[in-house]
Amino acid sequence: MKILVLGSGAGGGFPQWNCNCRLCAGQRTGQVRALPRTQSSMAVSADGERWVLLNASPDIGAQLRASPVLWPRHGLRDSAIEAVVLMDSQIDHVAGLLSLREGSRLQLYCTPESHEDLTGSLPLLKALESYSGVNWHPMPLEPGGGAWHEIAGLRLQAVPVPGKAPPYSPRRQAEARSDNAAVLIEDPASGRRVFYAPGLARVGEAERRCLDGCDTVLVDGTFWSEDEMVAAGLGKKHAADMGHLPQCDGPHGPGMLRALDACAARRKVLIHINNSNPILDEDGPERAELVRRGIEVAFDGMELEI
Ligand code: MLT
Ligand code: MN
Ligand code: ZN
Repeated sequence: MKILVLGSGAGGGFPQWNCNCRLCAGQRTGQVRALPRTQSSMAVSADGERWVLLNASPDIGAQLRASPVLWPRHGLRDSAIEAVVLMDSQIDHVAGLLSLREGSRLQLYCTPESHEDLTGSLPLLKALESYSGVNWHPMPLEPGGGAWHEIAGLRLQAVPVPGKAPPYSPRRQAEARSDNAAVLIEDPASGRRVFYAPGLARVGEAERRCLDGCDTVLVDGTFWSEDEMVAAGLGKKHAADMGHLPQCDGPHGPGMLRALDACAARRKVLIHINNSNPILDEDGPERAELVRRGIEVAFDGMELEI
């Protein structure tokens, strides 16, 4: 199975259009050695021909233009993307659906909760009915994971993980597990699995089992520390307020580094990196710490062979 990281940044991307923090400003001027990153999305394929898009980033147009394997090949109008799977209804994961409107009917997999947001508070799916139209394939979340879906020669299972509904959602404060999904992807030919969780607020027993059962894991790399945004003067929200587990231990318990240290996966990758996260700086001590622990930082265009 092949994975292509299309966008490795969190909401806003990196550098963020309106941000002058040390990292964003330093990236623009070249004073900080860091790769720019578009917003959160990746593509997965069993054979390198038929692809599944995991989240539809606001940057999808540029991401597709930059990815030859996803270019149209057969006939006058075509796409290598057979289906789109959403982890949640966050703007950085869904706004790109609008940019796919020129194509044939979208095959969309998401939870009933995300579908409710996308036909309610942010009615993108209703708007798309006047363009490509959307076939919704419900992915209800059940404890321990729901049904396996066969998509483009792969098997995918949505797994409920701790996290938050988007700020615009009426369920933002509810903290229902059903508002945030991770996905297990299995290649039926090899039996190998991938765990993709761009939003993950806590690693409990169920999440540990997912991490351990996989060859490769790509998990929430949004924040280095719990109060990173507040300390940098960028906002009032802590990592926990936004449903993201920081890499370092904090007031709410052990961080992602500990969870990854304990995980048996062959490759451990942080993805969905916020522009405030010092791991973006290739020369910083935080990046060196990740290298010591064998943890990778996803970048746009990163390819993984599983
Ligand atoms: C999040 O994951 O919390 C989002 O990236 C926030 C946003 O889209 O602004
Ligand atoms: Mn996000
Ligand atoms: Zn910034």
